[in-house]
Amino acid sequence: MTAKAVPPPAVPRHVAIIMDGNGRWAKQRMQPRLFGHRAGAESLRAVLRACRDHGVEYLTVYAFSTENWVRPEDEVSGLMSLLRTFLKKDEHELHENQVRLRVTGRIQDLPRAVRDELERVMEATKDYRKGHLILALSYGGRAEIVDAVRAIAAEAQAGRLDPAKIDEAAIASHLYLPDVPDPDLMIRTSGELRLSNFLLWELSYAEFYFVDTLWPDFREADFAKALEEYARRQRRYGAPS
Ligand code: IPE
Ligand code: IPE
Ligand code: MG
Repeated sequence: MTAKAVPPPAVPRHVAIIMDGNGRWAKQRMQPRLFGHRAGAESLRAVLRACRDHGVEYLTVYAFSTENWVRPEDEVSGLMSLLRTFLKKDEHELHENQVRLRVTGRIQDLPRAVRDELERVMEATKDYRKGHLILALSYGGRAEIVDAVRAIAAEAQAGRLDPAKIDEAAIASHLYLPDVPDPDLMIRTSGELRLSNFLLWELSYAEFYFVDTLWPDFREADFAKALEEYARRQRRYGAPS
């Protein structure tokens, strides 16, 4: 079989974003960190609109990692209430644009009130297919793989799965959202050059785009620039250039 390197479709189908830099943005303004998180929610709204305008079908955003639980209690509770406000204020946008909301992560770790609100909006938007907004909440890439391995081991122990038949597809099908295509483009703001435990399995062939802009300053034009850069990349999947 000869596979030829092909240019990617001009627009990525799925974009994943590590929304980083809210704290530094607030600090530059001598404001509390939550001020930065609130401004960051505006960037999320802007990028969601940009996805619709550019024809990006799936947007996954890293909103809270399994590691972020170590942050001070007031920051964590502030983020949780900001999330509830976002769901209440922006639910109508999801309906207007027929965007389905989903969560990836250990949703059971979230406070009851947040979980209830998430479940309500997920249920209300579950039939939409024009766009998909996926919130990574209490998400860790290693935790996701651990949860998949536990489920696979339980099936094997029950005699429903032959260990010799475990392949990549079997693992992928036990991840949190097996029906979602892998991200094509991963964006991280704020100049940090690391994955911080984000979508370890799913990003294995994504194009990476790092930018110094802090998340609260990242708006439609910045997103459009990332898409332009993506369109210039050549995805080879191991094939010769
Ligand atoms: C990203 O901004 C948002 C979350 C992790 C919830 P940060 O809060 O990490 O901002 P910096 O990295 O401290 O500037
Ligand atoms: C990653 O950002 C998690 C989110 C954006 C939610 P962090 O700010 O937590 O990552 P590190 O700690 O700098 O790696
Ligand atoms: Mg950070």
